[in-house]
Amino acid sequence: MRPSGLAHGVFLRNSNGIDVVLGSNSLLYRTIGGVLDFYFFLGPHPEGVVQQYQEVIGRPHMPPYWSLGFHNCRYGYPNVETLEKVVANYSSAMIPLETMWTDIDYMDQYRDFTLDPNNFPQDKMNAFLDNLHSNGQHYVVIVDPGIAIMKGYPPYDQGLEENAFIKDKNGNVFIGRVWPGYTAFTDFMNFDTHSYWQDQIASFLQLLPVDGLWIDMNEISNFCSGACSTESADGVNTAIHGSEQRVKNSQPTRLKSKTRTRLRRSGTGNRRVGFDPTNPPYSINNFGNKAPLNTKTLDMDALHMNGAALEYNAHNTFGLSEAIATNKALENLKKKRSFIISRSTFPGSGSHTGHWTGDNHATFDDLEHSIIGMLNFQLFGIPLVGSDICGFHDSTTVELCTRWIEVGAFYPFSRDHNDNQSHPQELYRWPEVATVARKVLSIRYSILPLYYTLFYKAHTPVTMTTPPAATVTRPLFFEFPSDVNTFGIHTQFLIGPAIMISPVSTQGATTKNVYFPRARWFDWYNQSVAMEKGGEMVNLPAPLDHVLIHIRGGYIIPMQEPGMTTVASRKNPFSLLVALDETGSASGDVYLDDGESLDMSNYTFVNFSCSKSSLTGSVSGTGWAKSSPPLSSVTVLGLDGAVSKATLNGQSISNVHYNSTTQSVLLSGFQTSLASDFTIIWE
Ligand code: NOJ
Repeated sequence: MRPSGLAHGVFLRNSNGIDVVLGSNSLLYRTIGGVLDFYFFLGPHPEGVVQQYQEVIGRPHMPPYWSLGFHNCRYGYPNVETLEKVVANYSSAMIPLETMWTDIDYMDQYRDFTLDPNNFPQDKMNAFLDNLHSNGQHYVVIVDPGIAIMKGYPPYDQGLEENAFIKDKNGNVFIGRVWPGYTAFTDFMNFDTHSYWQDQIASFLQLLPVDGLWIDMNEISNFCSGACSTESADGVNTAIHGSEQRVKNSQPTRLKSKTRTRLRRSGTGNRRVGFDPTNPPYSINNFGNKAPLNTKTLDMDALHMNGAALEYNAHNTFGLSEAIATNKALENLKKKRSFIISRSTFPGSGSHTGHWTGDNHATFDDLEHSIIGMLNFQLFGIPLVGSDICGFHDSTTVELCTRWIEVGAFYPFSRDHNDNQSHPQELYRWPEVATVARKVLSIRYSILPLYYTLFYKAHTPVTMTTPPAATVTRPLFFEFPSDVNTFGIHTQFLIGPAIMISPVSTQGATTKNVYFPRARWFDWYNQSVAMEKGGEMVNLPAPLDHVLIHIRGGYIIPMQEPGMTTVASRKNPFSLLVALDETGSASGDVYLDDGESLDMSNYTFVNFSCSKSSLTGSVSGTGWAKSSPPLSSVTVLGLDGAVSKATLNGQSISNVHYNSTTQSVLLSGFQTSLASDFTIIWE
């Protein structure tokens, strides 16, 4: 961003280790390999920069509608009975729970694609899942990339047979160690392995038809630094020694000798004479202390792509390649949009997966950082993002968890999750947290049509005639690029162009300094004008149960009566919140479809436009909204005179409720389909 309000972007497409050094007036990149592919995006609008970047790396994935509901997880749920109780407790606390998650606890000895027969037996798990589904709820489980090395365990045996694993420098299966003990890792960069991965997911879906997958530990995270020395490692899978022999001796695990010769001759990647990837001439500041590059991951001479790529070059792309394989598998198997959340990402990941920002702590600092994380990932082309609400490590407090749900309710991906070492923190545990959760999640659910429309715009390639659209939540400067006061603000953010959230992220604070960029702003709760012109900072009361929300004049927000699930919400009527600017105008839009089809050709798009005393809806698309609920109320804020009557397409509207204090009007008692153009006029 330049003070002039013009934005540009520079993208260095490079997957090697990089030091990034921020000086007082410089930014220095030192990469230790790879190609120097630079892209320059000229904006000049910040949203345009991100959109141009996404044209290069891939537009974001269109999430299924249900995934925008609230999610709950915890590491350490001991059994299916506990899962049932948690779901029931959310329901009796009247807190909307869309999706229940389970961490590695559900697996048999932490092996992927299995169920613990004692604590999470298949029959009870299927009954649990059927129950969730009949309530319109969903279920997601974790999958790690480390496949337990264990003879007789089908994912391992099949991986060996199909030559699906990453190799060490000698062409043997690379042995790491993760939760199940010694593990092999799928060579996702070799696209031939994707059918192997799909087969594993297919078998698991037969066992338990989960709705989405959470792909963790995919940096790759390894409990050994480099290959485990299996003699000394205190691994837990005791059968390792037998199977390790098999790994060493069996033919399919070794690269074909022809391939090895080809690699030696061609000098693929950094395999040039004298170059040792395990000891490069320049050490980046790994872990902040120049730790060896294999620290808690693979050796840099490990081999991907059936031997064609070194870990040294490929390390940072592993999460991306796993996301590609997982997305393909879920789409092929379910014939619907996938839902995946990945810990490791790379430019392009957003086309296949969403992201959560990893293991944070239950501190106010990390609550504040979560806003930066969320906004950064909008820039990175991965808009479906959120942090562990209430904090992952350490036990949360009532105050922190309350403040956190006030922010987290508005993350594009909204999930409460914590560690097995910390106290449980489901939102119903404390009455204060539960009350606020009900309030803010009902606001979230009421604006889900807006979130979904923003995702649609980010996902859809933009023509030259439409304004740039690439993010779901955005920093203030994205909408007010010529206001330098907005550039440094990270404790306030926008949902789309028009809803400004100003959360408290400081312990003990009961007020908040809110910067209002130059515009007319309305208070979300009392619907009156909070700021006529903007351009100033105001200290506002923000008691513990209150998150400040303002609506920008000039915009129309599509809303829907909130339910306890997205399925229920989607059956409720639509409403419009029209916030007039100082000229009496406003505009907005909504995208509607079935929320899950891969083929998005059956849809409705409605443009709303309001000028003075007339609001029109003009419809395009293929008529999907014929089967969706009608528009049944409109609220207009910022009127310059009283309103006593109104018509819809020439027919009088029965309920016209003008509020002279807030100068707003609520029009209701009518129904109009969003599949047809309409005009509402008031006087
Ligand atoms: C690390 C992940 O970041 C965390 O969210 C998860 O709970 C643990 N792995 C256990 O699977």
